[in-house]
Amino acid sequence: MEKKILTPEVQIFIDANLHSDLHSLLLKKSPFPEISMHEIVQQIKGKKVAQKKFPFLLKEGIVFPPNLNLEQASSQSTAEYKAKNVEGKTFLDLTTGFGIDAYFLSQNFTEVTLVEQNSPLLETVKHNWTILERKAAFLNENLEEFLKKNTAKFDVVYVDPARRDDNKNKKFLLEDLSPNLLEIQGQLAEISSQTISKLSPLIDISYLISVLKNISKIEIIALRNEVKELLVYIEGDAKLHDVKISCINLESDDADFTFNFQEEKTAVSLFSEPKQFLYIPNNTVLKSGAFNLVSEKFSLKKLHPNTHFYTSDVVLNHFPGRILKIDTVDSKDISKGGKYNIISKNYPLTPDQIKKKYKISDGGDFYLIFTQTQKGKIILKSQ
Ligand SMILES: C[S@@+](CC[C@H](N)C(=O)[O-])C[C@H]1O[C@@H](n2cnc3c(N)ncnc32)[C@H](O)[C@@H]1O
Repeated sequence: MEKKILTPEVQIFIDANLHSDLHSLLLKKSPFPEISMHEIVQQIKGKKVAQKKFPFLLKEGIVFPPNLNLEQASSQSTAEYKAKNVEGKTFLDLTTGFGIDAYFLSQNFTEVTLVEQNSPLLETVKHNWTILERKAAFLNENLEEFLKKNTAKFDVVYVDPARRDDNKNKKFLLEDLSPNLLEIQGQLAEISSQTISKLSPLIDISYLISVLKNISKIEIIALRNEVKELLVYIEGDAKLHDVKISCINLESDDADFTFNFQEEKTAVSLFSEPKQFLYIPNNTVLKSGAFNLVSEKFSLKKLHPNTHFYTSDVVLNHFPGRILKIDTVDSKDISKGGKYNIISKNYPLTPDQIKKKYKISDGGDFYLIFTQTQKGKIILKSQ
């Protein structure tokens, strides 16, 4: 299908329809006898996804896979970040998918091996890598089969498991993924001293540390404060008491925040009523669970044990989150019809209930924060 979809007249038709309504386009007859409208629409969808998610693929000759593979693929931004400190001679990706991670992660390696069980998907990757002038060994097989017969060693092995369709409502466990890292971790340790695995941010970090051996570091990676992935580094000689957790908010001004997982266990928070500034940690820090350490490391006071808001009379330059200058307000002083960015944390009303009660709406330049201190309910307004 690659060759047919790439003929100039089909490509012109695809580009001319980038802004067309795809539902109505699907109902039309394809103008090309050898290519269905479904295939054409898939390419349009791929280009549209690529504009935001992987702009490096907006090149003549690139072919896009079905939606599921586009969704499962990492974004260019996160893949570029992951590639920063990875180098060596031999690189193995056991779950190539659409190959976005592989493309960036393997750029500082001379021998690249890509394993993928989905044959048409791997064919698409192989075609695209020719266009991108990148070389690799493309192995269309099940990774379990590959691991059984493989005798080679690799400097870095990368695994980005796919979520299985079943077990949707349960707690997120490694058993819900393909491959199941628990089953292959022994084999991975035999073929490489460094495995990097991308996992869903829904997975609990303490659980990961308790079930996976030799974790040296877990990076919590967000893109503009939306947590996208956990990146788990497994290294042959890593010790359980020395697991580093790094909180990284890409495409933001937030400083990275790194700590030793054990540190949080002994850290202690101090509490206070609101001072001049309110500190709101970003979502990577909230995911890390380092609630006491944030108080201790940045010398900030917490408002309440269950509210992860902090306060201080000084402004810190390297805080991983937002800092707002605040006043305490009385509910009577909230002007009806006003526009605010509403935050409700550890407060009995949801933002929607708050909007109804005070007849206010979303937006504007100010924040209204509904929360609790150790003395009780409180409303804060940013200046
Ligand atoms: C989440 S996607 C990988 C996306 C990729 N990192 C990217 O950036 O495009 C996971 C891929 O692993 C493949 N996969 C899952 N289990 C596998 C197995 N046991 N053997 C080989 N491939 C497998 C799936 O077919 C899927 O394409």
